[in-house]
Amino acid sequence: MIQTETAVIGAGIAGLTVAESLIRIGKTVTVVDAKRAGSGTSRNAAGMLAPLVEAHASEQVLLAFGRDALGYWKEWICNTSDPGEIAHSATGTLLVATEPDHVGALEHLASVYRRLHLPIEEISTAEAKRREPLLAPGIGAAYYSAEDVQVDPRRLLASLVRTVTDSPLGELLENSAVDLITIDRSGRFLFDAGENSLAADNVVLALGARMRQLTVHDASGDPHPGVSAVLRSVRPVTGDILRLDRRAQGPVSHTIRTPECYLVPKPGELLVGASSEDRGYDPTNRAGAVYELLRYGRETVPAIDEMPLVELEVGHRPATPDHLPILGPAGIDRLWVAGGYYRHGILFAPLAAELLARYIDRDEYDERLSHFDPRRCGRDTGQR
Ligand code: GLY
Repeated sequence: MIQTETAVIGAGIAGLTVAESLIRIGKTVTVVDAKRAGSGTSRNAAGMLAPLVEAHASEQVLLAFGRDALGYWKEWICNTSDPGEIAHSATGTLLVATEPDHVGALEHLASVYRRLHLPIEEISTAEAKRREPLLAPGIGAAYYSAEDVQVDPRRLLASLVRTVTDSPLGELLENSAVDLITIDRSGRFLFDAGENSLAADNVVLALGARMRQLTVHDASGDPHPGVSAVLRSVRPVTGDILRLDRRAQGPVSHTIRTPECYLVPKPGELLVGASSEDRGYDPTNRAGAVYELLRYGRETVPAIDEMPLVELEVGHRPATPDHLPILGPAGIDRLWVAGGYYRHGILFAPLAAELLARYIDRDEYDERLSHFDPRRCGRDTGQR
């Protein structure tokens, strides 16, 4: 049996950042994943660190946490890896109106942000075109959000996996699915992960949208109702995303958003995303969603017509009923949850992991966690 101080279940962006934070403060960590580390939804994220344009103006807790998370990200990335290595780019986001009704929608968004003293700048459409020559002619309005950054999630995940596997404190078990966690008399967590059996003092559940596929028994051997309700509160929201080879079409340097889609430049590629549908864990790309992405994408950057399509992927965003993360105690002593990051996984994960690691290690409670207590999602059962 493998004995570990902390087991992290799930090696996507949530689990790997928690592992990285715990290792940095000297804890031993075993990360377990049902497949290969970093091969799930996080791999297909666009990597936009864009708190203003990715949250709704009404989601003020998410906006505030997103801005803190972006500030933290900028420090964290310099301390943990080479920003160049993960294709970190700070050119900001251009928001453009490609249809008549987008003009009013963007105007409204900008007025809300100004009221909240958040930085968003209206620019002329000519200026937008000067900054991004591949933009369609005839866009109706343009705004610029200067503080946004974007990164390459695939390189980021690879760098985090190396952090775990290169550290004497880290261990990674891949192709090791966990279905059931039980608790022994001394309060240790016991579970099988593929071929291995583990005993852990602490467990962090970081299974993204697959949280609900896990069962946790309490000391009496029955499913713990509060924890079950927390895990079942996470649902998958499917997003299709396309990768195009942009090398023959000239540079795209900003993230470009319309109210319907986003286009995010990566080295040699342009990502077009993303649909948003409640259709369970369906791993297929549906023609209708892909058609819509291409339609809105070419309305924004017509040159995508000529770009080879190199990849078509699906991700399952982990959404909670209130769209806030679940981050903190699950409802059983030393069982923790890091998830429910919904549209903000790459942005939120490093700060969320840091706050959780300090809570686990030193019982240090950051007030921001009060919005994200996982047990709020278990309350309908009366369990805490
Ligand atoms: N944050 C991008 C998305 O969820 O599509």
